[in-house]
Amino acid sequence: MPSGQYDFVVVANRLPVDRVGTAEDGSPQYETSPGGLVTALAPVMTAHRGAWVGWPGAPGEAGEPFDSEGMHLVPVELSHEDVEDYYEGMSNGTLWPLFHDVIVAPEYHRSWWDAYERVNQRFADAAAAQAAQGATVWVQDYQLLLVPARLRALRPDLKIGFFNHIPFPGYEIFSQLPWRSQVVEGVLGADLVGFQRRGDAANFLRACRRLGDASTKGGTISVAGGRTVRAGAFPISIDSRGFEELASAPEVMARAEQIRKELGDPDTVLLGVDRLDYTKGIRHRLTCFSELLADGRLGTESAVLVQVASPSRERVRAYSDLRDEVELTVGRINGDHGTVGFQPVHYLHQSFPREEMAALYLAADVMLVTALRDGMNLVAKEYVAARHDSDGVLVLSEFAGAADELTQAVLINPHDIAGTKAAVLRAVQMPRDERRRRMRALRRRVVEHDVERWAAGFLDALAGHADQPDAG
Ligand code: G6P
Repeated sequence: MPSGQYDFVVVANRLPVDRVGTAEDGSPQYETSPGGLVTALAPVMTAHRGAWVGWPGAPGEAGEPFDSEGMHLVPVELSHEDVEDYYEGMSNGTLWPLFHDVIVAPEYHRSWWDAYERVNQRFADAAAAQAAQGATVWVQDYQLLLVPARLRALRPDLKIGFFNHIPFPGYEIFSQLPWRSQVVEGVLGADLVGFQRRGDAANFLRACRRLGDASTKGGTISVAGGRTVRAGAFPISIDSRGFEELASAPEVMARAEQIRKELGDPDTVLLGVDRLDYTKGIRHRLTCFSELLADGRLGTESAVLVQVASPSRERVRAYSDLRDEVELTVGRINGDHGTVGFQPVHYLHQSFPREEMAALYLAADVMLVTALRDGMNLVAKEYVAARHDSDGVLVLSEFAGAADELTQAVLINPHDIAGTKAAVLRAVQMPRDERRRRMRALRRRVVEHDVERWAAGFLDALAGHADQPDAG
């Protein structure tokens, strides 16, 4: 296969831009959607000749590759049927719930699998066409588990990395997947496989031993044909300094004060920020808050919960069901505990710009991250980065990858409602000295381990410059 001209190619389900419409001449119009990944990779992309292969986020004609901010963007087209079967179906109706410990039941449909194979091949073809001889290709996340092997088949000259942003489940759960062997073989096309936690890497290594024609020693997997693949933990992070700077801007700090005023100057502002996803434990959080109000342990009119739930995967049934349940529960709590002119839960089913998020973090005394299962949870890290005043308390689920690093948070098991209620109260009542001590320790970790360090750590290991990755 002829090679392309890009030395560094990122392959992700989404491009770092969203398709927002169609110009008069019929060509697609795009808007940048600055995520954490692009912030980390943009410098690498501009330093080398970088290309990004991904879906523009809407079905239908994707248009030609184009250059934007020093990157070559290569749109991969998905038809309406591909979106239904590959994205909403196999990715978000099968793999997402399976990899998050079957919080909702995964569905197994052969037609979804066929679409997943077809679309993964399309991504592999597009990446193969862009990559220069001997280039580095970094494949991202669970939507593209088959890309590494398919890309290697087309282009054995490439260095291929794969990073799984979400958890990797234990074998007892993973083995439900009718296509489990194909998935393991797909990932093993990479030279280096990265996970968020050591536990995820250990689960993957076990799946390799059970399913692949492979043996493992530490984090090294020997596959048929004499090739070796390495697997390890590379916990992702955020642009910590960028976030801290944003939260230090006078307008953002003024906005934080204004938010508290608009909420009626309560004693305590609690905050939840999530995509509206069943993995985030939003219902558990609402149950705790409502019981604390009912018990009288949090005073009505003295404590407010702001819940930002950004719209996500709305055409997938489990997500629309969750939305109904959350909105019913919020309505009940406000009906039971509100007064004229005051409501205890401020629910916002919207996405906000980064400035507004930073202001919300600064305004919040207690941040509630109650995920039932989460690869990392970057909201926890954003809250910490925003708190340049070294105040605020992070309540953090043990089931989020961030708990491995953010050990000075108040750690909870969100399934334990009594324990979580006690932890929330402890956070609300925590003396100032203890709050500062914990927040300072959290900040040290988040500022030192930022997303740039994450990307550099992975790419160094892929290039063979780093030591053996941390495989637990
Ligand atoms: C998680 C996944 C990402 C995904 C994001 C948003 O963070 O790990 O791969 O892009 O959710 O979900 P969406 O389906 O809207 O891309």
